Amino acid sequence: MLFFLLLSLFLFSPSFSSPTLSATVRCNPSDKNALLAFQKFLYIPSDLPSWDLRTDCCKWTYVHCDPLTNRVTQLVITSINTGQFPVARGPIPAAVGDLPYLETLSFNDIINLTGSIPYSITKLQNLKRLVISGTTLSSSIPEFLGQLKNLEYLDLSANELFGSIPASLGNLGRLVSLELQSNKLTGKIPNSLGRLNPEAIVLSDNKLSGDASMLFSADGRARWINLSGNRLEFDLSKVMFQRNLTFLSLSYNRIGGSIPEQVTELNLIQVFDVSYNRLCGKIPVGGRLQQLGAPPFLHNRCLCGPPLFKKCKA
Ligand SMILES: *[C@@H]1O[C@H](CO)[C@@H](O)[C@H](O)[C@H]1NC(C)=O
Ligand SMILES: *[C@@H]1O[C@H](CO)[C@@H](O)[C@H](O)[C@H]1NC(C)=O
Ligand SMILES: *[C@@H]1O[C@H](CO)[C@@H](O)[C@H](O)[C@H]1NC(C)=O
Repeated sequence: MLFFLLLSLFLFSPSFSSPTLSATVRCNPSDKNALLAFQKFLYIPSDLPSWDLRTDCCKWTYVHCDPLTNRVTQLVITSINTGQFPVARGPIPAAVGDLPYLETLSFNDIINLTGSIPYSITKLQNLKRLVISGTTLSSSIPEFLGQLKNLEYLDLSANELFGSIPASLGNLGRLVSLELQSNKLTGKIPNSLGRLNPEAIVLSDNKLSGDASMLFSADGRARWINLSGNRLEFDLSKVMFQRNLTFLSLSYNRIGGSIPEQVTELNLIQVFDVSYNRLCGKIPVGGRLQQLGAPPFLHNRCLCGPPLFKKCKA
């Protein structure tokens, strides 16, 4: 009788119903506390390992802990092979700032994510990768993101961000990729972005105006630059492009001047699109340019020479 009593106590005790609780729990209690704010913020589809308080938070969906320190280093909220988009119930919780070992923070294709980016994110000084993409986040890009000095990847694409690009992003000296495409950004590209030397810059499909020549320099390392679909207006004639460029799109802007001769030295270029601008003059002959066909040069003010059929006046 006593045996059965003990057995039933054991079977129905809370610790038995949480198989991962015991010596194998890796989750740091302070990280777990911060994650609890996310539990309220997110609707988590029921077929995913749920955020059960009694289980090890290192095994929760979207959470990754470092195998040595057991601290939460990645929080990647996305539609993991379920096809279901995660659904949020408001803004990103300020408690995100209480995950001090976070290196990757990603919110991808989230329904009903609202509000703005919390200031507490500036506490995440180990953050290397920040992705907020495909959400209805509707605010300006906060100036304080410039405090995340270790950022290597910043992707704020496909949200509803408005206002101008803060000059403080020029302080992100380790950035290798900056993606702000498909938002409602306006104003001028800050000159400070010319200080960056990233490998990719994508600012396409916004309403940016004015000069973009500060993004180009012959000894820069960028291989991928897409500024398509803005209201950029500057003289292309004297621009020197990064020699290792493989992708350059300036299409659908108001760019004037002529195509610089240096473009013939871009040996790795695969996409070079200057269509729908206000360019004039002879397309430089050489390199890969004439192999690209006419479409990347169409709909300009007065470009001439191959690969266009239009002959230049002698
Ligand atoms: C998103 O928010 C709207 C407005 O509050 C609500 O009507 C809708 O049901 C929410 N969508 C989901 C998938 O929860
Ligand atoms: C261009 O690519 C070459 C070969 O990968 C590399 O050695 C060189 O450092 C690159 N140049 C720049 C400015 O990134
Ligand atoms: C970049 O440029 C190309 C060609 O001009 C365009 O078709 C493409 O969708 C653009 N956007 C991104 C995010 O790559």
